[in-house]
Amino acid sequence: MTGIDSTCSPEAAEFGTVTGKVVHGDKIGRNIGFPTATLDVSPTALPHGIYAGIATLHSGPRTGQRFLTAVSHGRRPTVGGQESRLECHFLDFSDDIYGCEVEIELVKFLRPDIHFDHLDDLVAAIRRDVDDIRQLFSMTR
Ligand SMILES: Cc1cc2nc3c(=O)[nH]c(=O)nc-3n(C[C@H](O)[C@H](O)[C@H](O)COP(=O)(O)O)c2cc1C
Repeated sequence: MTGIDSTCSPEAAEFGTVTGKVVHGDKIGRNIGFPTATLDVSPTALPHGIYAGIATLHSGPRTGQRFLTAVSHGRRPTVGGQESRLECHFLDFSDDIYGCEVEIELVKFLRPDIHFDHLDDLVAAIRRDVDDIRQLFSMTR
């Protein structure tokens, strides 16, 4: 899946768009089955939380392609994060895109950034986020 039907983003841009370059995160995401692209921005005006979004790649071999994305903006209290970060887990996508420019349309706020006592609970929550996003865009497969 690379194309997204434009009719599938009813409330697109409710929170605006964020553009940034993909930089290296802590690489925990790939170990828990949800690799993320960390962006080099953390907009102070964007409330912390988990969002459904649509990512468009603006550089690299996949330039112009769009993907559904689960966006986390916050301190990641479960893994002891100190500073605020914006990270995206792209659905159905696993290429290396370090250094690429990405634009994220924030479509819907899903939930706050939560402290989980166990990593397993965080993984289960992310899995639910991804399911919610597929449902939101009616792309459950
Ligand atoms: C959809 C999604 C939801 C997330 N929700 C939370 C959360 O509620 N609490 C939290 O501490 N971290 C949350 N995170 C951030 C993860 O802790 C983070 O992605 C993970 O530690 C991997 O980061 P890294 O690959 O930069 O190491 C979420 C990440 C994603 C992609």
